[in-house]
Amino acid sequence: MKPLVVSNLTKRYGDFEAVKGVSFSLEPGEIFGLLGPNGAGKTSIISVIVTLTQPSSGDVEVFEQSVSDNPREAKVHTGLVPQELINHGYFDVEEVLKFYSGYFGVTGNKSRIDFLLDRLQLWEHRKKKVKQLSGGMKRRLLIAKALVHEPKLLLLDEPTAGVDIELRESLWEFVTDLRKEGLTVLLTTHYLEEAEQLCDRVAILHHGEMRKIGPTKQLIEGLTQRNILIQLKSPLSQFQHPYLIDNSGAALHFRVPSGVGAGDLLAESQLDLSNVVDMKIEEGSLEEAFRSVLSGTRGELS
Ligand SMILES: Nc1ncnc2c1ncn2[C@@H]1O[C@H](COP(=O)(O)OP(=O)(O)OP(=O)(O)O)[C@@H](O)[C@H]1O
Ligand SMILES: [Mg+2]
Repeated sequence: MKPLVVSNLTKRYGDFEAVKGVSFSLEPGEIFGLLGPNGAGKTSIISVIVTLTQPSSGDVEVFEQSVSDNPREAKVHTGLVPQELINHGYFDVEEVLKFYSGYFGVTGNKSRIDFLLDRLQLWEHRKKKVKQLSGGMKRRLLIAKALVHEPKLLLLDEPTAGVDIELRESLWEFVTDLRKEGLTVLLTTHYLEEAEQLCDRVAILHHGEMRKIGPTKQLIEGLTQRNILIQLKSPLSQFQHPYLIDNSGAALHFRVPSGVGAGDLLAESQLDLSNVVDMKIEEGSLEEAFRSVLSGTRGELS
């Protein structure tokens, strides 16, 4: 059973079309990155998935329950960490988590709450009022809140915005652990390095349209090139090669398609190995792939 199927989803605000016929689905236990620049439509899609807003057309199914036909059933197995920090000013951290458990009809889950307080480093702050928490602590509380009812699909909308590096790392470790227990995760983030490390697949949205989707590694390979730097003992000022982009004399800089290995390049360019001091290979990144998608025309993209 697919945790999430988004079919030809369109979301309009008045005359403005924020999401334009987007389709994708999630496999059980995967971490899926929904990427795109500000205003691309990520939060709008998430809002439809969690039934905060209705689709203008198309549909979303969460564990085979349509958000349009069965909104209550669709949201039972879903946890949302919203992009916006919200303020439950006068409640303390523990009270908020108990309240949210009740909202989902879960009682007697003290051990779950204690576990989340511990894993999200909120234990020592559990008696603090929400208004007394720092921004990063509020973000951690939002994450705990999204998980109190043990959802099977977790939606993380910019969960690491404003969170320090140490906590970001521990958060991703936590998410990876939860995934091992079968949790499926949809994540939006502007930290593309994090998305590259974490996400099994990514989708890139732009102006409400799905521009690219695929396994993260494959997408990077298809959209970026490798840089190969070869440092030389004696300069080869006359050296020429179709992939050569710079020849400083002491070093040759090649940009090669992802399928071309350094060995192939050496063999094919007939460089004298005894003249090679060192070699450095830089793979393309998700950030480069992302830029190339955003700068490409639609006709060039599959
Ligand atoms: N309630 C609303 N009413 C009118 N327009 C809206 C509303 N919510 C979002 N929009 C518009 O829809 C577009 C998509 O917004 P959305 O919040 O989905 O983008 P996003 O991809 O989440 O961006 P960000 O990375 O900044 O969070 C934007 O142009 C935004 O101004
Ligand atoms: Mg958003």
